Amino acid sequence: MNRLVVAVVIWLSLLSHSTLASLLAIDYGSDWIKASVVSPKVPFDVLLNKDSKRKIQSTVAWKKEDRLFASDAFNIAGRYPTDSFSSLKYLQAAPYDSPTVSYYISISTTEILETSRGTVALKRSDGSEWSVEELVAMQFAYVRDLAEAALDGEKVTDVVVAVPSYFTQHERDAVIDAVEIAGMRTLALVNDGSAVAVNYAMTRSFEKDKPEYHIIYDAGASAVRATLVSFQSVPVEPKSKTYATQVTVHGVGFDRQVGGTELDRRLREILIRDFNKKYHKDIRADRRGMAKLWKESGRVKAILSANADAMASKAKVESLAFDIDYRSKVTRADFESECRDLKPRFVNPIYDALDFAGLSVDNISSVILTGGATRTPMIQSAVKSAVGDGKIAYNVNADEAAVLGGALYGAALSRQFKTKAIRVADINTYDVQVSYQAEAKNEAAKPRTINTVVFPAGSKVGSRKTLTFKRKDDFAIRLNYKGQTVPGYPTDILEAEISGIPEALANLTERGAIDPVVKATVVLSDSGFVSVQDAVAFGEIKDETVTGKLKSFFGGSGSSAEETVSEQETLARSEAAEETSTNSEADAQDKKPSPTPTPNKKPSVKDNTIALEVKVNLASIPPMSVAQKRASRDRLAAIDREEAAKRRKEEAHNSLEGYLYRMRDLLDDESLTPFRKCSQEQEREAMRVKLEETFHWLHEEGEDADTPVLISKRTALESLERPVIHRYQEVEEFPKALNASQMWNWSTRLFLTEAHQNLTASLKDPNAPPSKYTQEELDGLEKTLREHETWLNEWVEKQKLVKMNEDPVLESSELKEKAKKLETQLQRLVKKKPPKPKKTAGASSTTATASSGQETEVPVGHDEL
Ligand SMILES: *[C@@H]1O[C@H](CO)[C@@H](O)[C@H](O)[C@H]1NC(C)=O
Ligand SMILES: *[C@@H]1O[C@H](CO)[C@@H](O)[C@H](O)[C@H]1NC(C)=O
Ligand SMILES: *[C@@H]1O[C@H](CO)[C@@H](O)[C@H](O)[C@H]1NC(C)=O
Ligand SMILES: *[C@@H]1O[C@H](CO)[C@@H](O)[C@H](O)[C@H]1NC(C)=O
Ligand SMILES: *[C@@H]1O[C@H](CO)[C@@H](O)[C@H](O)[C@H]1NC(C)=O
Repeated sequence: MNRLVVAVVIWLSLLSHSTLASLLAIDYGSDWIKASVVSPKVPFDVLLNKDSKRKIQSTVAWKKEDRLFASDAFNIAGRYPTDSFSSLKYLQAAPYDSPTVSYYISISTTEILETSRGTVALKRSDGSEWSVEELVAMQFAYVRDLAEAALDGEKVTDVVVAVPSYFTQHERDAVIDAVEIAGMRTLALVNDGSAVAVNYAMTRSFEKDKPEYHIIYDAGASAVRATLVSFQSVPVEPKSKTYATQVTVHGVGFDRQVGGTELDRRLREILIRDFNKKYHKDIRADRRGMAKLWKESGRVKAILSANADAMASKAKVESLAFDIDYRSKVTRADFESECRDLKPRFVNPIYDALDFAGLSVDNISSVILTGGATRTPMIQSAVKSAVGDGKIAYNVNADEAAVLGGALYGAALSRQFKTKAIRVADINTYDVQVSYQAEAKNEAAKPRTINTVVFPAGSKVGSRKTLTFKRKDDFAIRLNYKGQTVPGYPTDILEAEISGIPEALANLTERGAIDPVVKATVVLSDSGFVSVQDAVAFGEIKDETVTGKLKSFFGGSGSSAEETVSEQETLARSEAAEETSTNSEADAQDKKPSPTPTPNKKPSVKDNTIALEVKVNLASIPPMSVAQKRASRDRLAAIDREEAAKRRKEEAHNSLEGYLYRMRDLLDDESLTPFRKCSQEQEREAMRVKLEETFHWLHEEGEDADTPVLISKRTALESLERPVIHRYQEVEEFPKALNASQMWNWSTRLFLTEAHQNLTASLKDPNAPPSKYTQEELDGLEKTLREHETWLNEWVEKQKLVKMNEDPVLESSELKEKAKKLETQLQRLVKKKPPKPKKTAGASSTTATASSGQETEVPVGHDEL
């Protein structure tokens, strides 16, 4: 059974409305970042850059104090060669003194330093140092901001990152550290080959009985890799009629020294030699020149790659170095001859993946090309000649398949989206072994290390194993890679000190256990991390109770449910135990035990386990500590705050400047503009003076001024302009308000006339309908109306005398307020409920007698009779 069931959708619809959080998928390449956001708010696609590009250059840079990203950052390398940071994927968890770092130095113009963790930091020209994790985190945060902008500001915290299957645990840690520094959470890491496979499987269906084998061949900037996968339709559950697509990884192969970047480097070598020969100078000594040449090499390579018929391309760099405008021509033949030795290395990963899986080219249906460097004709022809033209497939998007597959993988993991089910069974790439010191037989014996491979390369991720040790005393186990993973990289992963053993064993023994043991559970997670999950002391104790005996009879013993056991006996076989002597045995016991119980065979036992203390010490390249990550996060947050403050200041500056120009236009306009009509000469003069003064100030001191000062300068001018604006608004508003006032005046008068008539009628004629209102009510309204009229007449006359460029004596707001009073009183009467009928027996409409409204009631249903 697969541990990981990945359900995938083509259109995403959400399952749970309340808990939905959007998900960000990132394919962080050495040259390009591709990202995708999964949310019901936006169509499922790759995330666009600010200028609508579908991929984002993996560069962060500083132009003096301004931080730049993507192509803006990449493009300034020629001017700021030590402040533009690219190809950082090479440096994730790279030990400072490793060949990887030497290689990085050969392709980069930046300055590098060693961190306290033995990894790499980069140094800006201002002297500040930034760890690789921090620089990568900045880019993750940049991508997150793009995603949040696409989602109208909704927060994004969950991330899936596609990583190469060859990434070691240290490198995976570095990715997760960067995600955390960026203030996000890693939902999962997914191997990029598997992500491409998910993308491939999305729109296809597969046979039920026969797996179909394909190789995902990915040539990226920093490496070439091959992932051998099979696709097959399998029932969702045994005997189910619903089918899921099973994606199984069978093998991987890779070469971490060839890829697009190495091709760029080779091309640049051609240009360097050419330049140095032509001008008798050493361009290598010039950082700017080298950075410019690097960019040009990438451009020339792209031209030679874009068109198979492009036999040559011009290289051209203005003022490359030493004031020289460099021009040259690179032929495809030159380029290919420079790279001749790489040809076998482009295809070896394919053979390695086949070997790993124990298959041959004949078993493979197609080799699916992905990754930007597969566009290079040299690489394509190498792959073609290795597997045959007919097997080459271009049926996934070379740039986007990994991120889109990764997004769907993550969407399914988060269980928030509806599904086409795809199950992924991935594997680990390197042998992982457990090492520990053998228990010394006597004082004189030399300490001896025993190594046992627990997760051989090709083990399914998302599995665990329980190791059994016959130990009496506390000891430590170490998890490490059996062989070299990357030259110069450490092989140790972690050490787990297990303590409390003697006490726990004594306890179990005392309770009747015979030969209790220590069991440690090691886990290989879905994201490819190994860890020691826990350790226990364990012993079987005869259960003499009735329940125990019954259990035994029905075979319900707990011990038969033991999951996976790999035994390493240090006492019984310590003599024979060579470094690898027990591997095959361990492997043999890898299989899950049969779930069928074996009743009556074993004596009744009661399992007893006592948890032991496990203290984990980290490897020589440890992941960042919580404190280190917090410090980095604070550092990044400080930059964000600074940049936000800077943006606010720029906005205040621009807004002031814009305001000044607008005001100057207003003042300069001699025609009868509303502004002119509503302002007086002396006011305009005051504004002119203030305007020129502010212009001057902005020019002299504006750049250094703080945001509040910039804002106050604008406010000062606005306060001069405000009365003019107000007059103009009143010119617009007053007639409307007056009209409304007159309307209420008029309708109140109408109402009163009619109501008076009704009242009079009802008083005169006992058969007439009773009046709804009393005399007092009507008198009250009449009074208010007269007051309103008097006020209105008086003030409207006054206002009529006021000139347009003078402040009004009667504000439209006051007009409205007075009218509102009248309106309210009128409405109160209009809305008044008709008088209630009297319930007195024999009462009729003739009851209306007095002038008091309370008494004049209309019988219910009168209107209907
Ligand atoms: C691979 O091909 C060989 C020979 O063509 C065949 O014998 C073998 O069964 C195939 N293996 C699989 C897994 O299909
Ligand atoms: C053994 O440990 C259990 C708890 O883990 C404790 O309750 C018990 O008293 C211990 N027995 C002895 C004999 O120490
Ligand atoms: C006054 O208001 C009425 C009704 O809203 C409208 O028909 C009339 O045109 C208005 N007159 C003026 C001068 O605004
Ligand atoms: C109020 O309305 C009355 C009657 O319609 C009219 O005679 C009077 O002039 C109006 N007063 C004002 C200020 O509009
Ligand atoms: C006056 O009486 C008529 C007839 O009963 C009624 O429709 C109208 O609403 C009354 N008017 C007022 C202002 O009360």
